[in-house]
Amino acid sequence: MDLESVRSEVERVIVSEADLQKRLQEIARTIESDYRDKDLLLIGVLKGAVMAMADLARYLNRHVEMDWMAVSSYGSGTKSSGVVRILKDLDKDITGRNVLIVEDIVDTGLTLDWMRTNLESRGAQSVEIFTVLRKPESAMVKVDVKYVGFDIPKDFVIGYGLDFNEKYRNLPFIGVLAKHMYE
Ligand code: PRP
Repeated sequence: MDLESVRSEVERVIVSEADLQKRLQEIARTIESDYRDKDLLLIGVLKGAVMAMADLARYLNRHVEMDWMAVSSYGSGTKSSGVVRILKDLDKDITGRNVLIVEDIVDTGLTLDWMRTNLESRGAQSVEIFTVLRKPESAMVKVDVKYVGFDIPKDFVIGYGLDFNEKYRNLPFIGVLAKHMYE
């Protein structure tokens, strides 16, 4: 879906499609070099990471495997508790694997903090994180993220996997949702 189709719903574009794709290609080159001679298992966090996974995986000029998890904070309004529920678990055992978690956004950091601990406890050889976006001002816990696409302000962002009421995930850029859409 293009910008024209949602012109009145998007306040501004903060990361263009071109900048997004260029950054993903740069990160793909770094990952290829960091994981040379190692296996690589990409674990995407549904649903937001679908776009990032599809593009990053295609930019990687090497074999990768992909698996998926779906997680959810316990109840609504309790996101800051950091308690996470697994809605869909991995298909395969990850013992001894080099895991790279693929995320769309690190906001408070609670989801990723929990995910890393969870995956490490299953005996992965290494667990690193790639995220398209990070909101440093929202961090409640410090999460060591190895690959960050863009640090962004606290605005309500949508697109490229990020939703508002399940919509806007299919925008190819990251935009700030116009306030009249949710106020
Ligand atoms: C988003 C995002 C991360 C999490 C980050 O998922 O994909 O998983 O929130 O937030 P945190 O750093 O504050 O923990 P969301 O719960 O919106 O689900 P979705 O990917 O299905 O949209």
